Amino acid sequence: MNWLLISDLDNTWVGDQSALEKLQAYLADRRESFYLVYATGRSFGSAKTLQQTVGLMEPNCWITAVGSEIYDDRGLDRAWANYLSDNWQRETIQAIAAHYPQLTPQSPSEQNPWKISYHLEPDGDPMVIAAIKHNLQKKNLSVQVMFSSGRDVDFLPLRSNKGNATHYLQQRWQIPGEKTLVCGDSGNDISLFETDSRGIIVNNAQAELLAWYDKFGASRHYLAKSPHAAGILEGIAYFKLANP
Ligand code: GLC
Ligand code: MG
Repeated sequence: MNWLLISDLDNTWVGDQSALEKLQAYLADRRESFYLVYATGRSFGSAKTLQQTVGLMEPNCWITAVGSEIYDDRGLDRAWANYLSDNWQRETIQAIAAHYPQLTPQSPSEQNPWKISYHLEPDGDPMVIAAIKHNLQKKNLSVQVMFSSGRDVDFLPLRSNKGNATHYLQQRWQIPGEKTLVCGDSGNDISLFETDSRGIIVNNAQAELLAWYDKFGASRHYLAKSPHAAGILEGIAYFKLANP
């Protein structure tokens, strides 16, 4: 294995079925040369259901629930879970979030010991996120707040997120940033692009990610001309990571 491909699922890898099949056929021919990891906001159960529905090729491992969990064929990565548990005050953070009527808890299946998730009310003012962040910071709580797709609000341990989980796997497999390719479309993918990896932003990206790219985009980031999986294929060619 000489390179690492890490991709978000919804609206990145998944979204255009014929492009997905084309991408997977291309990668299947080179499957021995790279590690594949899906990095999704979904729970592991929900990600596995999606795998069945759209026929996702088998990855080497899964970063699920926005990096709050890592799974491989032996199950949940306990070392990662222990690392996240340090100084994580779930109940306190949940109690503070409960004070904001603009936030509605997501379904129990999307909550886990290291992730608390809400939906912002329709037409809700995203400024409320900044207010909550400020409040949590004042209380010195070790937490990050993530806003995606103009609606999803996740509270996670500071050590968590897709980008930090990417570092963890890069270390395990000894793959450097210039041999790592990350792909995404929304706010919970920003941490992927903050690593020193090469990055593909698919053309259908959400406003919060495009705003981040305008401010912080660098030469290691590629804004694809195509949406979804076609954008990933375009980016793989751009970065010349896979053999032709
Ligand atoms: C996925 C998860 C949801 C999360 C969102 C953004 O949709 O199911 O819990 O809020 O990603 O990270
Ligand atoms: Mg997505």
